[in-house]
Amino acid sequence: MSETVQIIIEGKEYEFPVVEGSEQEKAIDISKLRAQTGYITLDYGFKNTGSTKSAITYLDGENGILRYRGYSIEELAEKASFVEVAFLLIYGELPNKKQLDYFQDSITQHTLVHENMKRFFEAFPQGAHPMGMLSSMISSLSTFYPESQNPDRSVVDIEKTIHRLIAKLPTLAAQAYKHNMGHPTVYPSNDLGYCGNFLKMMFSLPTEDYEVDPVVESAINKLLILHADHEQNCSTSTVRVVGSSQANLYSSVSAGIAALWGPLHGGANQAVIEMLESIREDGGDLQKWIDKAKDKNDSFRLMGFGHRVYKNFDPRARIIKKAADEVLEQLGVDDPVLDIAKKLEQVALNDSYFVERGLYPNVDFYSGIIYRALNIPTDMFTVMFALGRLPGWIAQWKEMVENREPIGRPRQVFTGSNERSFVGLSDRD
Ligand code: ACO
Repeated sequence: MSETVQIIIEGKEYEFPVVEGSEQEKAIDISKLRAQTGYITLDYGFKNTGSTKSAITYLDGENGILRYRGYSIEELAEKASFVEVAFLLIYGELPNKKQLDYFQDSITQHTLVHENMKRFFEAFPQGAHPMGMLSSMISSLSTFYPESQNPDRSVVDIEKTIHRLIAKLPTLAAQAYKHNMGHPTVYPSNDLGYCGNFLKMMFSLPTEDYEVDPVVESAINKLLILHADHEQNCSTSTVRVVGSSQANLYSSVSAGIAALWGPLHGGANQAVIEMLESIREDGGDLQKWIDKAKDKNDSFRLMGFGHRVYKNFDPRARIIKKAADEVLEQLGVDDPVLDIAKKLEQVALNDSYFVERGLYPNVDFYSGIIYRALNIPTDMFTVMFALGRLPGWIAQWKEMVENREPIGRPRQVFTGSNERSFVGLSDRD
């Protein structure tokens, strides 16, 4: 007999089914709670609420485990290409050679964006934040491909949209950078791989030859894999909720980019480097900044520390910390900010405030240091995160569509005024 739990409300006992995941995680299915009891649940920030069943990513925050479709993040970061991981997340299995060739070719075919989009870029002020540009550009892609707006969501249309999105996001990201630099757009090179093509669009100039540095290409590949999915985080939940209204995939991903931009989420990678720079410029007194982060009257938080789910360590942070050391050494870069980061981590990890609250460096604590070494400007860090997260957003959106999930629409506990009569302007105080 399947397991149930009993909930007693106003003396009456109700029974609700227990749902068990493939890693024995348990949930109480309360989908009939309101219909049976008249009650709803209240859970700020959805800290205890499962919004869906998902077969994509497994995350065990207590033990620092992260797996995409059953494969450990450590193994994927070491052995896979980002395009392989994208395929794995979206279609559920690692591709065989024929599938990978087809997927890779199709993505390569779609890297160009419509020339009219250049005019959108021209209209943005110089120095516009690239995340703002990217979110707008991705949303406007839906206007160039109206078949994506079809609520019937045919498999063929969805496939095309998926390939186009993966192909065009790097092109648009690089264009946003070039716009801010005031440099001419560099068109995609179909003879290069996914990461190499992106690097060339970012860094090549018409005045000189450009060769992709294999160290840089491999570092980007690893970083994108580490960011590729993270189950029901803020931006992914946004993508799923927006998509649940039958909004198209471009618009849903555009909303995900907006959610990722915030400093409590993907924007943390930019905020970490800005914080480390401020600490350096301020003389490097780490204790002063730790004290500020602990002071409840000070809004400052140690950026890159803490995570909603990881309470012991973030496995991605471990991989990135090691990669940061390797990349800086291979490129011969000596970044004083890396030393500050390492010292800050040590001070925080030995401070009872951080230990008691389970606050550890997250994926973004060291990623910015690698991006800096690769000459990626600070305001492009969150764009790099978006490039990595795209396959996860797509996979989660596709799963939501295939499972025919209902429109996302939470309830609320109303705490405002009870009914009152309108008062004319002359009678108001
Ligand atoms: N610095 C100082 N104190 C912190 C920090 C921090 N970085 N993070 C959490 N805390 C404290 C809180 O003040 C709170 O203390 P209290 O219990 O005394 O009130 C306690 O730790 C729990 O924190 P919450 O904010 O309740 O935890 P929540 O799960 O809601 O937030 C979050 C998680 C947003 C990641 C938070 O840790 C944070 O703001 N970190 C800094 C921003 C950051 O690095 N974001 C990137 C996350 S990873 C990602 O999205 C890719």
